[in-house]
Amino acid sequence: MMEIGGRKTLITGAASGIGRATAMKIGGLGARLFLTDIDADGLEETRRAIEERGCEVCLARVLDVSDYEAFVALADEIHSEYGPLDVLANIAGVSLFSQVEDMTHDQWERVVNVNLWGPYHGIECFVPEMVRAGRGGHVLSVSSTAGIIGLPWHVVYAGTKHALVGSSEVLRFDLRKHNIGVSVVLPGAVNTRIVQTTVINADEDACRRSRDLFSRHAMQPEKVADLIADAIERNRFMVITSADIKLLYLLKRTFPPAYRLVMRFMTWAMDRTLTRKEFT
Ligand SMILES: NC(=O)c1ccc[n+]([C@@H]2O[C@H](COP(=O)([O-])OP(=O)(O)OC[C@H]3O[C@@H](n4cnc5c(N)ncnc54)[C@H](O)[C@@H]3O)[C@@H](O)[C@H]2O)c1
Repeated sequence: MMEIGGRKTLITGAASGIGRATAMKIGGLGARLFLTDIDADGLEETRRAIEERGCEVCLARVLDVSDYEAFVALADEIHSEYGPLDVLANIAGVSLFSQVEDMTHDQWERVVNVNLWGPYHGIECFVPEMVRAGRGGHVLSVSSTAGIIGLPWHVVYAGTKHALVGSSEVLRFDLRKHNIGVSVVLPGAVNTRIVQTTVINADEDACRRSRDLFSRHAMQPEKVADLIADAIERNRFMVITSADIKLLYLLKRTFPPAYRLVMRFMTWAMDRTLTRKEFT
């Protein structure tokens, strides 16, 4: 069991949603926080809310996780002023729903750069120093249900989130000898700003319907933050946030024919809900 209190913890995506809720939760447990996000106003709000509770924010910095040079500069600053991190939480992400034939190259690139290069930059810039320090620690990445299930309309998003699961699994074993725990968090629907900001390549009415449907079934980010804190403290590897996804994942591994039927149905339902633009 790792005590979070006093641990130097860097969180990406701290301006909103799961990242902000995690910062509040972990800050409340006494962590020393290093908060980052591309959204300066949201980040400032998170910092204010945390400091008002009397918790410690060592640094709140605007950072685009896809920008390697900026990540390196931040890591150099943190390492020289504070030393190695104890906990790295890769949470920032963006989402895209689309049929493959409707995607622009910019859309492919943005999702890969933020969702995959973002966590890789975090791991590359901070984990080697954690290893060299020899004090243990924890690396956590927020993937998605789309990291274990081939969700329809998620071709690039699911690719990045599956990659996070794969890399986390390798790190889980590679970092064990350094007493660095690894978690990958797989949320189902969570009621955050992403519900509105997800790019959906479909007509407007269909987008509105699907955003409404999504938020009606979504859990609150604070619940995910509780699970994240627990995963860090108890070194839980795979954290699936809802029972229906646990069941579907079990079906995928144990009874593939039934999984195939469920996925065909899900794809049919999603195709019906999201009418492609060119057909309107
Ligand atoms: N909300 C859900 O239903 C859900 C489900 C599964 C997985 N997730 C994952 O959870 C994570 C957090 O998302 P959320 O739901 O809290 O959404 P959110 O939009 O509320 O928070 C995402 C944060 O990431 C930041 N961000 C976006 N691009 C960035 C960049 N280039 N550099 C730095 N920060 C950037 C945003 O400004 C925002 O503050 C994401 O990785 C997302 O894929 C969310």
